[in-house]
Amino acid sequence: MTSTLPDPTRVLVHPAIVRVTHWINALAILIMIGSGWRIYNNVPIFSSIEFPLWATLGGDPDLTYARNSDVGFSNALLWHLAGMWLFTVNGLIFLAYGVFSGRYFRKLFPIRPREVTATVADTLRLKLAHDDLTVYNAVQKLLYLGVIAAMVLAAISGLSLWKPVQFQSLITLFQGFQGARLVHFLCMSAIALFLVVHVTLALLVPRTFLSMVTGKVRAPSRLSIDAAE
Ligand code: HEM
Repeated sequence: MTSTLPDPTRVLVHPAIVRVTHWINALAILIMIGSGWRIYNNVPIFSSIEFPLWATLGGDPDLTYARNSDVGFSNALLWHLAGMWLFTVNGLIFLAYGVFSGRYFRKLFPIRPREVTATVADTLRLKLAHDDLTVYNAVQKLLYLGVIAAMVLAAISGLSLWKPVQFQSLITLFQGFQGARLVHFLCMSAIALFLVVHVTLALLVPRTFLSMVTGKVRAPSRLSIDAAE
């Protein structure tokens, strides 16, 4: 009889629920940003900022036809509302697991300012330390916490824009409908900026990308199962 023993040189860092919700979240964010840009173009907040149609979702099938047509706008709105459910339901599972399993507490804390400045200095000198993929460095911890906060605030401000009458108190909190739009826009900008850095780092260290697919990484020499999942 043959038995398959687990490979002792590999440790699980991302359980299946984290991997599945992470990739669904990535898809949901692309849908939300792409359609959101098309909706924004209809009535821009800043006259100098308009998103190229090719980068938007739900826009006009024929790009030469009326730049800001109502067809493109209403299609984008449908995409945005459909994406909203995927983003919210999946995001709640992603967050609930991270909080209630204690994963965020173990992996994202503590954040020491001295470690943040040291990691930034190392990165600027192109000395990215990535020997031990079972732990996040201080900058990763900050970025992950920041993007989680931006996603929560994007959802809350989005809710107030979707149902401004029912969520009047939220609209008041954001200093009116235009204030809520501005907060929603700033959250989107923070998430988009995070994505540029996050995807670049994942491509620079492809082993991290693989770990988000298989869940496993090579065990560090001092096996810290506690720091991993
Ligand atoms: C679409 C392209 C994306 C790629 C290629 C990507 C890649 C990765 C990789 C490789 C990791 C593991 C890092 C490591 O173990 O060192 C990771 C973790 C993470 N990513 Fe992404 N990601 C993407 C999209 C997103 C988006 C859209 C968000 C949120 C807005 C996000 C939020 C996170 C968070 C919070 C973690 C930490 C998860 C945890 O440990 O619980 N990612 N990502």
